[in-house]
Amino acid sequence: MTSLDHKAEASAASAGLAASMVGEGVAADALSALLARRSAWPLAEPGPTDAALARILDAAACAPDHAGLRPWQFQLVRGAARHELLRQVLAQPQAQVPEVRELHGKYTAKLTTAPVVIVLAARIVPHPKAPEFEQLLTCGAAVMNMLNAAHLLGYAGFWSSTPEPLDGLLRSVMGFAPQDHMLGLLNLGTPVNPPSRQPRPVRATYAREWPPSAHSI
Ligand SMILES: Cc1cc2nc3c(=O)[nH]c(=O)nc-3n(C[C@H](O)[C@H](O)[C@H](O)COP(=O)(O)O)c2cc1C
Repeated sequence: MTSLDHKAEASAASAGLAASMVGEGVAADALSALLARRSAWPLAEPGPTDAALARILDAAACAPDHAGLRPWQFQLVRGAARHELLRQVLAQPQAQVPEVRELHGKYTAKLTTAPVVIVLAARIVPHPKAPEFEQLLTCGAAVMNMLNAAHLLGYAGFWSSTPEPLDGLLRSVMGFAPQDHMLGLLNLGTPVNPPSRQPRPVRATYAREWPPSAHSI
């Protein structure tokens, strides 16, 4: 990237900042929406449009990223491709043993329920200043940004795990690198059920002021 590109990027960023500060009301609305985000399962059509998906993926790249390693790696699977992915996963020799055959129904639900399934991985590289855990945290932040972006665009998401052997099956079918950490699936679509009313934790249970003081946060 040239220094001109950097300047253009910086001025676009400050223009964006100014736009977001146009009125406190805009920021307050965004924050209210953020505080109302809930994961949803199952998810149905409509899934995010191409334009919405582009914005959602752009949000991932806004994650804090020590040393600029960009460790996130995603593969999007949509529509008929989800069924093809499932077919190939279930056809692997490792998927034919009885313990895994019992899980075929579960894998079917995981891979083909939501209209858009993003297979998530972290490509960790050795780095003197950004250890593995920081690179994993960056990937977590990137996925969280996508969940929030999807919510702000009117869709819902659900981050689900892919414990072994599904991890390994996805890795070999989809061509993730041996050093990639599989991080599960980000499912995107439209909620079928009303949002959960489960209350969020009370902030005093996870945050406190130091030194301890009489006033509460
Ligand atoms: C990495 C990760 C993997 C998860 N895997 C599952 C899962 O396989 N099944 C599940 O029920 N919830 C899973 N969850 C939890 C849900 O994604 C979700 O966070 C939870 O249901 C709480 O919903 P909320 O986001 O509305 O608070 C996972 C969360 C994370 C961060």
